[in-house]
Amino acid sequence: MSLEEKLKKLEEMRQEARLGGGVDRIESQHKKGKLTARERIELLLDKGSFEEFDMFVTHRSQAFGLGNKKFLGDGVVTGNGTIDGRQVFIFSQDFTVFGGSLSEAHAEKICKIMEMAMKVGAPVIGLNDSGGARIQEGVVSLGGYADIFLLNTLASGVVPQISVILGPCAGGAVYSPAITDFIFMVKNTSYMFVTGPNVVKTVTNEVVTSEELGGAMTHASKSGVAHFACENEAETIHKVRKLFSYIPLNNLEDPPMVECTDPLDREEEKLNSIVPEDSNKSYDMKEVINNIVDDGDFFEVHEDFAMNIIVGFARLGGRTIGIIANQPSVLAGCLDINSSVKGARFIRFCDSFNIPLLTFEDVPGFLPGTDQEHGGIIKNGAKLLYAYCEATVPKITVITRKAYGGAYDVMNSKHVRGDMNYAWPSAEIAVMGSKGAAEIIFKKDITSAKDPKAELDKKTEEFREQFANPFKAAARGYVDDIIEPKTTRARLIRAYQMLETKKDENPPKKHGNIPL
Ligand code: HXC
Repeated sequence: MSLEEKLKKLEEMRQEARLGGGVDRIESQHKKGKLTARERIELLLDKGSFEEFDMFVTHRSQAFGLGNKKFLGDGVVTGNGTIDGRQVFIFSQDFTVFGGSLSEAHAEKICKIMEMAMKVGAPVIGLNDSGGARIQEGVVSLGGYADIFLLNTLASGVVPQISVILGPCAGGAVYSPAITDFIFMVKNTSYMFVTGPNVVKTVTNEVVTSEELGGAMTHASKSGVAHFACENEAETIHKVRKLFSYIPLNNLEDPPMVECTDPLDREEEKLNSIVPEDSNKSYDMKEVINNIVDDGDFFEVHEDFAMNIIVGFARLGGRTIGIIANQPSVLAGCLDINSSVKGARFIRFCDSFNIPLLTFEDVPGFLPGTDQEHGGIIKNGAKLLYAYCEATVPKITVITRKAYGGAYDVMNSKHVRGDMNYAWPSAEIAVMGSKGAAEIIFKKDITSAKDPKAELDKKTEEFREQFANPFKAAARGYVDDIIEPKTTRARLIRAYQMLETKKDENPPKKHGNIPL
C-alpha cells in the first residue's frame, strides 16, 4: 500500500471513529435534547485545540456476540486541549456506542489521560453520559471503574477534577464524579443514583421518577451532590469554562491573575447602610459581596443547597478568591449540618489549590434542635472548624454583624489562623445574643424586679452597650481593625497584596483525620 493509500485508509478510519455508534444513534441522541460526545468537546475547548488520544482503541471482548461488534474509540473520546489558552485533559463518553457503557478498554483510555494530566499538572474534565458498567464484560468492567476511582483519589488535591453529568450516571459509576471537586448536572436530561427507580420500587415500595430520585435539582438542592444545576448543555459548558477561569491548573500553581479595570479603591456608600440597625432584621449578604468584588461578578457554587451559607469565586484586584459567607436572610445565617459540610468542602478545595479565602461573617450560632443534634451537628460542624484551622492560604474575615458563640471561633477567627480580621462598626462579638445573655446572667435581678419585662429590657440594653460591639475584640487584637463598610474593597485588596508572599505550614503528617 502506498503512503497515499495508507493516508486515505487512516482518514476513512478517522471518519468512522468520528461517527461513533452511527448516524441513527446520533439522531436519537439529538432528539433527546443531548449533544454528542464530540459536539460537547467542541463547545468546551478552544476552537481547534483538541488533540485526541486512542481514537482506534476497541474492546477485547468476545462474549455475547461482542467479538464482531466493535466501534473505534469504544464509547469514549479522550484527549487534551485548551480553555482560554490553558491546558486541560478531557474524556467525553459517547452514548451512541453501547450506551457509553464502560468496558476495560474504555476505562484504560480514561486512566491514560488522568495519568497524563497528573504528570503535566493540568485539570481533568469528565463529560459523563453512560449506562454504567459494560454488562457483557462483567467483572473486568468493574475493575475498570475501580482503576478510575483510585486515580480520582490520587489526583485529588493535585489537579482540579470537574465532572459534568450529561446523561445517566448510575450504580457504582456515581462514585467517580463524587470524588471529584465539582459536579455539574443538566435539568431533565441527567441523573445520578446508586439504585434507580425500579430497584427502589422493588426494595422500598416507593414510586419515584428518575428526575425526583436523582435529577439535577434533587442533587443541587437536597442532597448537595451536585454543585451546579443548569438549564441545558450549552449553559452547562459555558459555566464549566467560567469555573475554569478562576482555578489554577494544579496544586503548585497560583490561580490565574486577570487584568482588573474596576478601581482598586472604589468606595461603595451603599455598604454603610446595608446592615439594618435592628439586629433581628435580615439583609442579603450577596449584596455585600457584589458591591465589593471586581465588577460585581460573583460566581456562586452550590447556589441551591444550604442557602444559609454562601460559597463561590470572585476576584479582587484581578486575583481569584474563594468566598464563604453567612447569609442572614436564610435561617438568620445559622450554621447547620448542611451549611457546615458545604463550607468545609469549599474551603478544602481552595486550600488545596492556593486560592485565598475571604469570609463574611454574620452568624448567630449553630442551629438548635433534635434534628441537628441527632443528625450529628457536632461532627459536621467540626468539619467546618477543621477546614478553617487546617487551611494555610491567605485568610481574611470581615465581621459585618453577629459573631456569636462557637460560630465566632469557627468562622475564620484570629484564633484559627485568620490573617487579617476586620469588623464593621455594626459587629456584635459576644458569647450569645444580648437578650439571651441578660436572661441568664441577670436572672435573679429580673425575676425579683417589680416589672420583670422592663428589667429584662434594661439589662439587655446594658449588655448590648457593653458587649455587642467590636471594641472588646479589637482591644484584645482579635480583630485587626474596625473599618468603615464603604472602604472594605480597598482594604481587602491591600491586605491580599500584603499576604501574597504568605508562608504557613502544617506539621508533617501522612494526612489529618477530618471528622467524617
Ligand atoms: C452494555 C449497554 C449498557 C450497559 C446501555 N447499553 N447500557 N450496553 N452495558 N451497561 C446499550 C443498550 O444495549 C443499547 O444498545 C444502547 O446502549 C442504548 O441503550 P437504551 O437502553 O436503548 O437507551 P435508553 O432507553 O436511553 O436507556 C439508557 C439506560 C439503559 C437507562 C442507561 O440502557 C439502562 O438501564 N442500561 C443499564 C444500566 C445499568 O444497569 N448499568 C449497570 C449499572 S451497575 P443498542 O445496541 O441497542 O443501541 C454499574 C456498576 C458500576 O454500572 C460499578 C462500579 C463499581
